[in-house]
Amino acid sequence: MPLGASLSLHELTRFYEGFGAVKGVSLSLEAGSFLTLLGPSGSGKTTTLMMIAGFAEPTSGRILVNGRDVTHVPAHQRDIGMVFQNYALFPHMTVAENVGFPLRMRKVAKSEAADRVQTFLKMVGLGEYGRRYTHQLSGGQQQRVALARALVFSPSLVLMDEPLGALDRRLRLQMQEEIKGLQSELGLTVVYVTHDQEEALTMSDNIAVMEGGLITSYASPRTTYETPGNRFVAGFVGESNFIRCRVVEAAGGGSTAHIPALDVSVEADTSSHAPGTDAVIFIRPERLRICDDSSPQVNQLAGVVTGEIYLGESSMYRVRLGPDLEVRVKRPNRGYGKPVTVGEPCMVGWRPADAIVLAA
Ligand SMILES: Nc1ncnc2c1ncn2[C@@H]1O[C@H](COP(=O)(O)OP(=O)(O)OP(=O)(O)O)[C@@H](O)[C@H]1O
Ligand SMILES: [Mg+2]
Repeated sequence: MPLGASLSLHELTRFYEGFGAVKGVSLSLEAGSFLTLLGPSGSGKTTTLMMIAGFAEPTSGRILVNGRDVTHVPAHQRDIGMVFQNYALFPHMTVAENVGFPLRMRKVAKSEAADRVQTFLKMVGLGEYGRRYTHQLSGGQQQRVALARALVFSPSLVLMDEPLGALDRRLRLQMQEEIKGLQSELGLTVVYVTHDQEEALTMSDNIAVMEGGLITSYASPRTTYETPGNRFVAGFVGESNFIRCRVVEAAGGGSTAHIPALDVSVEADTSSHAPGTDAVIFIRPERLRICDDSSPQVNQLAGVVTGEIYLGESSMYRVRLGPDLEVRVKRPNRGYGKPVTVGEPCMVGWRPADAIVLAA
């Protein structure tokens, strides 16, 4: 089986009549690794994939696959498989003809092509479906046909544009596992696009966050989630609390931030911010705790519980700390611990190490 290809993009741009859909994307991806592009609608994810695949011409920049410049190479000569955002199956072709299409484009001999089509249909669990038409398939089955079509010619690089977007949660989880399984079995390099943050966190070696045609963060899932480099990434991936603060001059080696909305100061790592600057304390709901006097926290603020969302294994509480400040606190439902009641006062605490001070 072929090993995955390395990929590098150098200042890739795509303009549409003066509008920059992609405005200088550079990255390099190791062979066999899984990169996810995550970003809001219109941030340039599909445009980036279409350029890598050869279906859209870059306005400028270069694309290298295994060190070879493919920027101006036609799509079917690039050795890149693609699963499109809407599957883009051919409705007038059977399932087998759809999967065999890339092989016909590459002039693979008929008998070999038929064998390969059957092998890949089996691999995605559709061995018996070759003669059906795509409108006779469920959404999940169509997705598998698109996947088989992207893999049938053993590409070393596979691009997937929200391949699981149309599936229900259970099927999505199952397909996530299958895609990861195929990726490691075949040693594929994958560039994946999703709107689903959980999917990005579980599947990727690295996550590139796109914003307005640019990559504004490129890091492992853990770093992206736990120590995001900027407020956009912190707010886009996962649930967040942002508490406005002003950095106070460090006194006696400690660092302090003042929260104007409450007129209190808390301990925080402000080392990368100048004293006097406005910033935000970023903290995930699961890093805040509802505490009582028996387990005092370094930072502890009094509030009132204003709402609860029951999530099964946990609950998300809204806690009002002041007239203009509310935080969300996530707590596992373990069946013990101080009961939390909407309308009742409570204390919210956190360790300084669980918060990050980000530029406002
Ligand atoms: N053919 C086109 N002509 C003009 N503008 C385009 C064209 N294709 C895309 N755009 C614009 O480029 C920007 C990026 O589009 P793109 O499809 O790459 O976004 P995306 O990140 O994939 O979004 P989504 O998450 O909604 O799929 C958008 O503002 C879009 O309107
Ligand atoms: Mg898109």
